[in-house]
Amino acid sequence: MLELQNVNITFYKNTVNERRALQNVSLRLEQGDFATVIGSNGAGKSTLMNAISGFYDIDSGRILLDGEDISYQKEYKRARKIGRLFQDPLKGTAPNMTIEENLGLAYTRGARRGITSGIKKRDHGFFVEKLKTLDLGLEDRLKTPVKLLSGGQRQALTLLMATIVTPRLLLLDEHTAALDPKTAGKVLAITEEIVSKNHITTMMITHNIQDALTYGNKTIVMSGGRIVLELSGQERKTMTMERLLELYSSTANDTFSDKMIL
Ligand SMILES: Nc1ncnc2c1ncn2[C@@H]1O[C@H](COP(=O)(O)OP(=O)(O)OP(=O)(O)O)[C@@H](O)[C@H]1O
Ligand SMILES: [Mg+2]
Repeated sequence: MLELQNVNITFYKNTVNERRALQNVSLRLEQGDFATVIGSNGAGKSTLMNAISGFYDIDSGRILLDGEDISYQKEYKRARKIGRLFQDPLKGTAPNMTIEENLGLAYTRGARRGITSGIKKRDHGFFVEKLKTLDLGLEDRLKTPVKLLSGGQRQALTLLMATIVTPRLLLLDEHTAALDPKTAGKVLAITEEIVSKNHITTMMITHNIQDALTYGNKTIVMSGGRIVLELSGQERKTMTMERLLELYSSTANDTFSDKMIL
């Protein structure tokens, strides 16, 4: 489904500030895999997602999606197949447009039907049904400008927009990190539901080790631009936080921050 072969990205090449942000990164996700990604600050997690989405060009290696070589495909082309969410709830939605208009945009964009004027009646009912699944009461606020929503509501809406036309791949970069713990939990539960119901192949960066082991079916651990550990199956099921920290310190040359452990 998704395959990375020896992907490298170096910033500020041949200068004193040279930074090997991705070093020979290889990984493989099967259709429907939900991989969580953890690692300390600067480990290369966001760079990995930026390489896959086409926001950063890779220096060498190959990226395949559904068998298609997308290594050097333009970002906007990949965006038709790849949904993305970031930490900042303000990033994924148009603030002055209503909930309905935002969903309309995501729907037409995803469906590649070109920009149509107005929202069709049929779409209206579809959006109401989709919003109901979030269980946040947003289905009664279709005409509300998105800027009036809370961070959690916006992030849930962004998630809906990114998946309203099922993407081939969903990339989540700490999409709950800016939310309070209760709201973060709710958005994570919604994420899990949408992903599993639609069998969306997903990568989710998190700073929370417990979440990384709880959600999804694989865990990728990064350090210094490399994947230092991959957990799946029985090994992952029986993995404890203590054991993971032990394994991490034996392979990585930095340590997890307290934030990740708490
Ligand atoms: N556009 C850029 N220009 C220069 N250096 C960059 C750029 N983007 C990332 N880097 C560097 O690449 C390394 C990896 O950064 P990255 O953002 O991928 O880390 P991360 O694992 O997402 O960390 P965090 O947990 O803090 O989000 C860091 O050393 C960072 O400073
Ligand atoms: Mg990051």
